[in-house]
Amino acid sequence: MATTATTTTGTATVGGQDVKTLEHKLYMRTFARQPITLVRGEGVRVWDDQGKEYLDFLAGIAVNILGHCPPILVKAVQEQVETLIHTTNIYYTAPQIELAKLLVDHSALDQVFFTNSGAESNECAIKLARKWGKLHRDGAYEIITTHNSFHGRTLATLAATGNRHYQEAFDPMPAGFTHVTYNDLDELRDAVTDNTVAILLEPVQGESGVHPASKEYLQGARALCDEKKLLFMLDEVQSSMGRTGTLWAYEQYGVEPDVMTLAKGLAGGLPIGACLAKKHAAVFEPGDHGSTFAGNPLVCAAGRAVLQEVLDRDLAGNAKRKGERLVAGLRELQSESDSGISEIRSAGLWIGIEFDQEKATDVLNRCREMGVLVNKTSNTAIRLAPPLIVTEADCDQFLDVFGRAVSQ
Ligand SMILES: Cc1ncc(COP(=O)(O)O)c(C=O)c1O
Repeated sequence: MATTATTTTGTATVGGQDVKTLEHKLYMRTFARQPITLVRGEGVRVWDDQGKEYLDFLAGIAVNILGHCPPILVKAVQEQVETLIHTTNIYYTAPQIELAKLLVDHSALDQVFFTNSGAESNECAIKLARKWGKLHRDGAYEIITTHNSFHGRTLATLAATGNRHYQEAFDPMPAGFTHVTYNDLDELRDAVTDNTVAILLEPVQGESGVHPASKEYLQGARALCDEKKLLFMLDEVQSSMGRTGTLWAYEQYGVEPDVMTLAKGLAGGLPIGACLAKKHAAVFEPGDHGSTFAGNPLVCAAGRAVLQEVLDRDLAGNAKRKGERLVAGLRELQSESDSGISEIRSAGLWIGIEFDQEKATDVLNRCREMGVLVNKTSNTAIRLAPPLIVTEADCDQFLDVFGRAVSQ
């Protein structure tokens, strides 16, 4: 029998049963979900099934960069959905090449492969590095990544991720990854062997609570790759699309990667990722890699609309300005004796707030109860990744609620 979903105000149900209850029965237990069911979004705000409004300072974890249901994205998707949704990559389609051109024109990279997620973008980068190693480094295949990094949940990207907590249940991990301390150039240099083919770094570690790389570190890593003939690969899945105050985070470091991976905000909420490479690193040939859905006309039309909007409205600049405003407000809070804030780390509109006690869950719950959505990256750290369109009034509303949540 067909079931119907109710999404107007009133407890969201499927086939007459509460969505939350049914989820426990039907959905694999992978997510520790917050106890609300969201039904609608507009701009920086979302609403739950009880009609409660929230200021969304998480934005699908750095995905809804233009906010919820932005008219420009809705229009692009509507037009494309009525024209051509999907076809196989055996055929050419214009939206795919339009988005590829936009990415190449506005980055230091030369070629693009589209994927469906951040993990797939990194899988692509890993395969690219391994093939490059066969061609140019005598079969070297090891990739150096860092402790506390996050590169995805597929087996290879989990092995690349420097966090045993995520890996242990799935051992043995695929071979070929070495982990070193982030921001420690000496350790990075010492880890290079004849087997090393690439270094894969996040310019800012997001999942660990927003830890930016130092300029010396990224520049040193780039120089090390040049010296040892390694690929310098940047995972910009979360740091790209203006989030940190420039379109790509690498621009602030005076370095250019050989390979860069994207996903998250690229299509403002539609599932897309990308692996970009300089010409010398783009070594795939027909048959080396592929994907059924990736780069289809629908997601690429969405990506093109989003990237063009980020460029036209200088949303990277807005991220920088609003990020500074938020950090200034948070520093004021930090100076109040009962806030418990021990550190504020930031990169544009991407902020990690560290407490001197394990109070992140309480703060997150209080924020939600007062109508603001944030998330925590540990029991002591809150992360903010609001849409890049936030206004001063949104920032002030957030600071007011957050101030009350930390001092309660
Ligand atoms: C830096 C980074 N790389 C890769 C990923 C994995 O992306 P996805 O969840 O789209 O596979 C994430 C996700 O949070 C990320 O932050």
